[in-house]
Amino acid sequence: MIPDDIRNDFPLLSEVCYLDSAATSLSPEPVLEAMLEYEHRFRANAGRGVHRIAQMASQKYQDAHQNVRKFIHAQEGELVFTRNSTEAINMVASGFPWQNGDLVITTLLEHHSNLLPWMRLRDRQGIDLRLIAPAQDGTLDPAALEAVITRKTRLVALTHASNVLGNVVPVREFAKVCQDYGALLLVDGSQSVPHLPVDVERLGCDFLCFSGHKMLGPTGTGVLFMKEPCLEPLLVGGGSVDRVTAAGYTLTEGYERYEAGTPNIAGAIGLGRAVGYLEALGMEDIRHHEQQITRRIIDGLNGIGNVQVFGPGSAGNRIGVISFAIPGLNPHDVAVMLDGEAKIMVRSGHHCCMPLMEQLNIPDGTVRASLHCYNTIEDAELLVDTVRKIARDF
Ligand SMILES: Cc1ncc(COP(=O)(O)O)c(C=O)c1O
Repeated sequence: MIPDDIRNDFPLLSEVCYLDSAATSLSPEPVLEAMLEYEHRFRANAGRGVHRIAQMASQKYQDAHQNVRKFIHAQEGELVFTRNSTEAINMVASGFPWQNGDLVITTLLEHHSNLLPWMRLRDRQGIDLRLIAPAQDGTLDPAALEAVITRKTRLVALTHASNVLGNVVPVREFAKVCQDYGALLLVDGSQSVPHLPVDVERLGCDFLCFSGHKMLGPTGTGVLFMKEPCLEPLLVGGGSVDRVTAAGYTLTEGYERYEAGTPNIAGAIGLGRAVGYLEALGMEDIRHHEQQITRRIIDGLNGIGNVQVFGPGSAGNRIGVISFAIPGLNPHDVAVMLDGEAKIMVRSGHHCCMPLMEQLNIPDGTVRASLHCYNTIEDAELLVDTVRKIARDF
């Protein structure tokens, strides 16, 4: 059960009906307090100084690393803080020791951030790139991977949950295919880590990326999990070296190798606190809560004659992302009406998934309602009632 009173931790909820958490979630007061505490009480650089507040800052930064690491069940040293998922994926694309003839496979379900880095690699380095297509409801079948994978496949890059259609991809089955062919697996957890229990061991992935701002944490924070430190760091400089002489340098072994320069210390502390907040609610409970609301929205929208709902019909294998359209009305116009009529905040358009829109044959995109733990059945009802009114009056 998610207690109703958590809504008091998100003051914005008293003003609007926030259904745009897949774009960015709200941050609760304890996250903001943890960041403010850093600013007020131990604002110093982390991992560098020896004075007392530098040590406090370093400790809190390391604690944040540990909290996030344990949250996804990673081992020590496997986790790097980044600015966001996009940066994490680009770190893999630009830092991996690619060889001529390597094949990368990704899918048409991906966010541009898990597509463009591979396209650029193809265009600049001559890497072979293949894209597999989902079914119309977003479902991705591991057989589609089996049909194109070869022994030359170095990496498969796959979303764990679609930010448009909401379906959860059976990553473990994809991981088995990758293992059979000796390919590495990168999982884009941007939409799954904030909403489901995720265990990197069980998933069987080699890389996992996610963004702090979609999981109640601050903007400008993200994570790259990597099983083996096989990447060339994107940046080198202060904080990432063991020894430097006039002749050269030796990089450190731990995650610091990939975090050159002063990190977003307040952000990291906020992210560590956000993970604690999610854990206190319980990821299973969050999932269950969001599924109930999702079901209510899907059923409600399906009950309105001229509304088209995209993605799997049942809420069972979905996260709380519901895309829909009112044929004849532009999704941006619907989003503006939802705001104007009932202060409902939703996203509209292509959701950074233009190739998927092309496949679904909806160039204008969709209206997307997306949930987090602080949403309620009342939010679902307000959305459905307001969409009904818009569709009727149109
Ligand atoms: C599935 C998915 N991948 C990647 C991203 C990119 O996240 P960010 O903008 O935080 O880097 C998003 C953002 O919406 C997303 O939904």
